[in-house]
Amino acid sequence: MSKILVLTASPRGERSVSRALTVNFAQQWGKDHPQDTVLLRDLGHHPVPHVTEPWVLGAFAPAEAQTPESKAAIAISDQLVEEFLSADRYVIGVPMYNLNIPSTLKAYIDQIVRVGKTFAVGANGYEGLVKGKKALFITSSGGSFQPGTPFAPYNFQEPYLRAIFGFIGVTDVQFVVADSMNQGEEAAKTSREKAETALKDLLKTW
Ligand SMILES: Cc1cc2nc3c(=O)[nH]c(=O)nc-3n(C[C@H](O)[C@H](O)[C@H](O)COP(=O)(O)O)c2cc1C
Repeated sequence: MSKILVLTASPRGERSVSRALTVNFAQQWGKDHPQDTVLLRDLGHHPVPHVTEPWVLGAFAPAEAQTPESKAAIAISDQLVEEFLSADRYVIGVPMYNLNIPSTLKAYIDQIVRVGKTFAVGANGYEGLVKGKKALFITSSGGSFQPGTPFAPYNFQEPYLRAIFGFIGVTDVQFVVADSMNQGEEAAKTSREKAETALKDLLKTW
């Protein structure tokens, strides 16, 4: 029995490609694995707070320096970390925004990357504390950034997600890409169908 935490980051509803692919995958996963728990967190419509000065105090200052504001700010982060750690697998829908991830997902990452909770600083440097998990990223973009193409170096989304999730210990990651969404109907359709086929396969093998 596993817990799947599903994050969506598009502010769009039915028009969103990443949301549709992510939610469809999660719903089908739930049907195929009725013993699993599937929890959906919609960051696109219900963003988590940004880091604030009280948050920084809450995360790094000693107990005697805490204020009611710092305790309240860090309590939200603590809850998000707890939820994140309680999951065995992550399915994350990510639109590309300005070559990277939407700020709603960045705000979430800022809340859950916490020293002593999801990573540690030891004698040998940084160590990710989130072990034995799997993440599936389902991304969508208007253009194409496939390896080997002229625009590949502009893709800061996939390298960043690999780096930050790897930093906290989530190294078993897969990407399913629905790109070319703004490159004409045919290219968008072909790319979306390819992503749907890849996700269908992952329902059996992930
Ligand atoms: C604010 C904004 C920034 C975007 N930046 C990029 C970009 O840098 N590169 C790209 O290929 N597409 C970009 N797009 C297009 C989206 O990635 C594309 O429409 C994608 O399908 C959005 O995801 P969604 O369908 O899940 O909402 C951008 C769209 C918006 C609204």
